[in-house]
Amino acid sequence: MKAKSVPRRPAGTSTVDRVRGPRAPSDPVCIRRVRDGDLDQIIAIDAAVTGLEKRHYWRSVYRRYGGPGQAERQFLVADATGRVVGFVIGEVRDWEFGSAPCGWVFGIDVEPASRLAGIGARLLEAICARFRRAGVKKVRTMLSRDNKLILSFFRSQGMMAGPFIPLEMDLEA
Ligand SMILES: CC(C)(COP(=O)(O)OP(=O)(O)OC[C@H]1O[C@@H](n2cnc3c(N)ncnc32)[C@H](O)[C@@H]1OP(=O)(O)O)[C@@H](O)C(=O)NCCC(=O)NCCS
Repeated sequence: MKAKSVPRRPAGTSTVDRVRGPRAPSDPVCIRRVRDGDLDQIIAIDAAVTGLEKRHYWRSVYRRYGGPGQAERQFLVADATGRVVGFVIGEVRDWEFGSAPCGWVFGIDVEPASRLAGIGARLLEAICARFRRAGVKKVRTMLSRDNKLILSFFRSQGMMAGPFIPLEMDLEA
């Protein structure tokens, strides 16, 4: 993994747009809401990244987050002239864990061949813009402490350690 110094900036405002400027008219990638026909490509990206194909799970996520007109639930894709190359999913949660309503990002993936081109940053920025429009002022996520790539990405976008810690235990039968 490359080493770099990480500047501080508000969450959801990427370096990428500042460095490379706004999207040019010829830019073939657009960020849009998911559609039914995207699911196979999303399942394939997730399977390539995680090594597991979860068709049933993705159908269920699509049913819950893919509907139109839900400001609080967002499922967006990066569309490169008709091909899905990445996606982000999240929602606004109200008063969970005693915190004021905030946006949660719980899934983001860019297909390996399309990485390091600013697509992840644009997906995050797009979902943050929708969270802002839904009226929240903070975005949170959770990640595996072993996943240095996703940590580097979120840090580069301005995210910092938050005030919560996850706890867990095994449930005996
Ligand atoms: C994390 C991920 C979404 C980033 O997507 P991407 O399109 O490559 O990201 P960007 O090109 O927008 O990168 C934005 C910044 O993130 C950081 N970053 C991205 N990839 C990085 C890498 N391999 N090493 C270090 N920093 C990295 C950089 O700071 C980069 O800014 P820069 O290009 O100006 O240096 C992508 O690598 C991915 O899908 N990884 C797997 C995600 C995963 O594990 N998902 C499961 C849990 S939700």
